[in-house]
Formats: sequence, structure tokens, C-alpha cells
Amino acid sequence: MAKCLRVPKSEGEPVRRALIEEGLLDLEYRIGSDGSDILIPCLCDEYNGIKAEEAELRPQNRGEGDYRNIVQVPAELKELLPNSHDVVGDIAITKLEEPLLPYRREIGEAMMKASPNIRAVFLDGGVKGEFRIRELERIAGTGTSETMHKEFGTRMLTDPSIVYFNPRLANERSRIASLVKPGEIIIDMFAGVAPFGSVICRNASPSMVYSIDLNPECERFMRENIRLNHIKNMECFIGDSTEVVKGLPQADRVLMNLPQIADRFLDVALAKAKVGGTVHMHRIMERADLPGYSQKLKDAMKAKGFGMEVTGVTELKTYSPTMSVYVFDILRTS
Ligand SMILES: C[S@@+](CC[C@H](N)C(=O)[O-])C[C@H]1O[C@@H](n2cnc3c(N)ncnc32)[C@H](O)[C@@H]1O
Repeated sequence: MAKCLRVPKSEGEPVRRALIEEGLLDLEYRIGSDGSDILIPCLCDEYNGIKAEEAELRPQNRGEGDYRNIVQVPAELKELLPNSHDVVGDIAITKLEEPLLPYRREIGEAMMKASPNIRAVFLDGGVKGEFRIRELERIAGTGTSETMHKEFGTRMLTDPSIVYFNPRLANERSRIASLVKPGEIIIDMFAGVAPFGSVICRNASPSMVYSIDLNPECERFMRENIRLNHIKNMECFIGDSTEVVKGLPQADRVLMNLPQIADRFLDVALAKAKVGGTVHMHRIMERADLPGYSQKLKDAMKAKGFGMEVTGVTELKTYSPTMSVYVFDILRTS
């Protein structure tokens, strides 16, 4: 079942265009029809007074819309073709197994044919270094990897080859925004191009979001995203967040999206959170290590003088056959 907006056929096109403009059209499904109405797949619960409803819509990536049906690769390699790829704005980013690499141009061309909204396809060489940026090679289409991504009505200018960006965190950004109470002070210690801050400022009413990143390339994108989204309550900083936070006020909420090593900074984050404030810490770990991990954090922070409770744990995605990325919601109690 897909979430969709029911509108009379005569009014369908302006609504569809408006949803595309705001990044709220659900590209996973095709538009359906029911009598004199059309059913437009959407990523929102309501749009302009129209309440979303559930309906059976046909998925986009089937039949001729699936690049795997048109790509020219030897038959024995077909089963290695990836089932999915990331789409950031108007570019697609795909990983390919070694035997498919000689056919990367054919695969890129087929992806573009199957998805007419894609301007270019890039081969993903993995995320590297402390800035967590991607090695990208263009395998089809034109232009650079700089692109405008839209997420739940928020615009995000980004370039995954020089700054970190992950479109798969859309639901987590929306979840965090839904927790923010009016007037909150928020610090994003590892902000990238400020997607968390932008979604929060567009969908909640914090008094200020401080977005920090070490990668100097982030500054241009953060400032542009503030401008594009008409944000008045975000300040951005380039530097080591452990230093930058020293000059900032105590926060109601601290975001820590640096999943390889965020726990090393948990004491800094707790010191910057008000008592009663929350830290959201991302962490990649063995699924087998999850039981008992919250208690370990609590003991380690107690030794540093902080009282804390883990109030929620969400599995964000699978990272490897045995590991996942989690977000821990941590309440500072003393
Ligand atoms: C996984 S990315 C998260 C980016 C962003 N939160 C997002 O969702 O797109 C981690 C970011 O932390 C930044 N970073 C790494 N060490 C840092 C530090 N000591 N202080 C500030 N930023 C840092 C990297 O440059 C990178 O942009």
C-alpha cells in the first residue's frame, strides 16, 4: 500500500508539480486512477488541506521502468546487477561488483533510460577519510556531482564527491524534527551540509540551530541551504566541534552523526547538553553487541561525572551482514 493524495483529474497536474517542487512526490510509485480522481503517491500525511490516504499503487521500478530489463550485459552477469541505487537530486549513485565494471557505461546508460529524471549516473568508490566523502566516477550523463536534493519540502544543495551526504537519512531527519519543541537550542556537531538543521528549521521552531563541520567545503553548501530554505535561526561553523562548542550556549538537543566514532565525543556532547536535554548519537556496531551497550555507555559517562539514560534505540540501516547503524536517544539526567 502507498500513501497518496486523491484529487480530481482536472486538478491533478498542478498538485503533481507542486509535490515535485517540494520534494514530496513519492517516486517509488506510479500515479493511479479511481473513477474521476487520480491518486498521486506522496511523502506527506496532508498537502494543502488534502489528507493522504492508503491505496494499492503500482511500483515504479517494475517492467520497462527497471534498468535491468534493458541493460546490455552478458546473461551470466545479470544476477550481479544491483537491485537499487541512491538518488541524490538529479544524480544516481551506484555500486558495482568487480565483474560488472567493464560494463559500467552500459549500466549507467540503462539507468538513465529507465529514469528520465536522472541527469548523470556515478559509480560509487566508497566513503573515505575523516570528511566521509565519496569517490565518484561519472559513468553516464553530463555535468558534475553537484546537485539539488529535495526532502520533505526542504532543499539541500550538495556534492557527495566533496561533502558527506546521505539521502537514506530522510526519515531520521523527519523523526528528529518531530521531537523538537518550540524555542529549543540545538547543536549539530557533525553537520555536513546541514540537512538535519535545515529539516528541523523548516518543520519545527527551534530558537537556534548551531551546525558545525570540520570539512571547509561544507561552508558554501550550508550557507546556500540556509538561503534556499529561508532559514533565519541557523548559524554554521567550520572547525573541530569539540573546540567550536566551547563558545556555544547549553543545548536542549545535541546531534552526533559520526557513526564510526561518535561515542568518543559523547562526554563533550553531554557536557554541552542541559540537564534534561537529549543527545542523539549515531553508532555503527555489531548487532550482537547491542544488548548491554547502553549500560556500558552509562557506566563510562558516570565515571566522567555525567548522569544519563538511553531512552530509545533505533536501527537506521544494515551496514554489513553482522553490523547495523543505530541511533541512541540519550537523556542527560545530571
Ligand atoms: C557522517 S557525516 C554526517 C553529516 C551530516 N550530519 C549528514 O547527515 O549529512 C560526518 C561529518 O562529520 C564531520 N566531522 C568529522 N570530524 C569532525 C569534527 N571533529 N568536528 C566537526 N565535524 C567533524 C565530517 O566532515 C562529516 O561531514
